[in-house]
This record gives sequence, C-alpha cells and structure tokens, in this order.
Amino acid sequence: MKLLKKITLGVVLIFVAMQFYSPTKNTSPGNHTKTFVIETNPSAELKTIFENSCYDCHSNNTAYPWYNNIAPVSYWIASHVEGGKKHLNFSEWGKYTMDKKDHLLEELEEEIVNEEMPLTEYTWIHGNTKLSENQIDAISEWVKQTRIIYQLGKQPK
Ligand code: HEC
Repeated sequence: MKLLKKITLGVVLIFVAMQFYSPTKNTSPGNHTKTFVIETNPSAELKTIFENSCYDCHSNNTAYPWYNNIAPVSYWIASHVEGGKKHLNFSEWGKYTMDKKDHLLEELEEEIVNEEMPLTEYTWIHGNTKLSENQIDAISEWVKQTRIIYQLGKQPK
C-alpha cells in the first residue's frame, strides 16, 4: 500500500511537471496557403476539404483543440504536425520544384484513395473530417488535372 501511494504520487508529480513544458505552437497568421490555392486552383468544395481535414498537420497553421493545453496530449499533437509538415506542407508549396509538386500530388491521391489520410486518430476525434467516396473521387479528378500542369512544366524546352 505504501509503495502504491509513492508510485501514485510520483506519477502525479511527473504529470504536473509536464504541464510546464509545452511544445512551440504551429501557427502563422494570414493567408499562408495562398500559393498552393492559386497554383492548383481547387474548387471551393476541395478547398474546404483541405482546410478541414489536412491543414492542421500539413500547413504552418494548426487550429488547436482545447486539450492541446494538456501534456502529454500536446506532445502527441506536436509530433503529428511535425511529421505531417515534413512530408507535405501546403504553406510552403511555392518552395517545391515542379517535380516535387507532381510527386506530392501523386502521393496525396494515393493516401486518400487508400484511406490513410487523414490519420484515423484524427478522424475519430474531429467529426466530419473523414472523406466520403464522392470527395475522394473529386480529389482524384483534381489531382489528375493539376498534375498535367506540373508535368508540362517539367519538360525540357
Ligand atoms: C493528424 C495529422 C494529419 C492529418 C489531419 C493529415 N495528415 Fe497527412 N500525414 C501526417 C503524418 C504524421 C504523415 C507522415 C507519414 C506518416 O506518419 O504516416 C503524413 C503524410 C502524408 C503524406 C505523405 C505520404 C508519404 O508517403 O510521403 C501525404 C501526401 C499526406 N499526408 C496527405 C494528407 C492529406 C491530403 C490530408 C487531408 C485529407 C492529410 N494528409 C491529413 C499527418 C496528418
């Protein structure tokens, strides 16, 4: 019993201490995905899908839920954002080469068709972020059309 008390106290103290260390927030004001939207010209519907289901982990601006104020949830969210942005950052679209953009769109379609994105952990918590079949088809169509622009751009003159 005594030992159990000590362990409990230890766990509580660690939890309290964790609250003093919060990861830096991923936020940037303004129209951070402007280049992406202008270049790839998604319909209003697709734009909303990306905003609702992807930007939290794949842009420089995350809309944080209240529970992000609680460690270790905040660490967990930060690691998703970091991992997502490393692979694809819609706010940095202008910095990618034609080749890279073409490849990213290919991957994007693959992830969506295979229902790997948005991450399941995310769609469980955020209602309405799981994509419907119609939405997946609409994204696929947009990917096909948009990739043509980048493939033409890649061709040697
Ligand atoms: C909760 C965070 C989160 C959300 C929301 C999310 N992603 Fe991701 N995404 C990740 C992480 C983390 C990775 C890195 C690879 C992995 O761990 O599976 C990733 C990887 C990717 C990749 C690269 C895959 C590769 O093989 O390089 C693409 C493309 C992608 N996501 C597209 C999307 C799209 C499109 C959406 C919205 C429909 C989306 N993601 C929503 C976190 C997220």
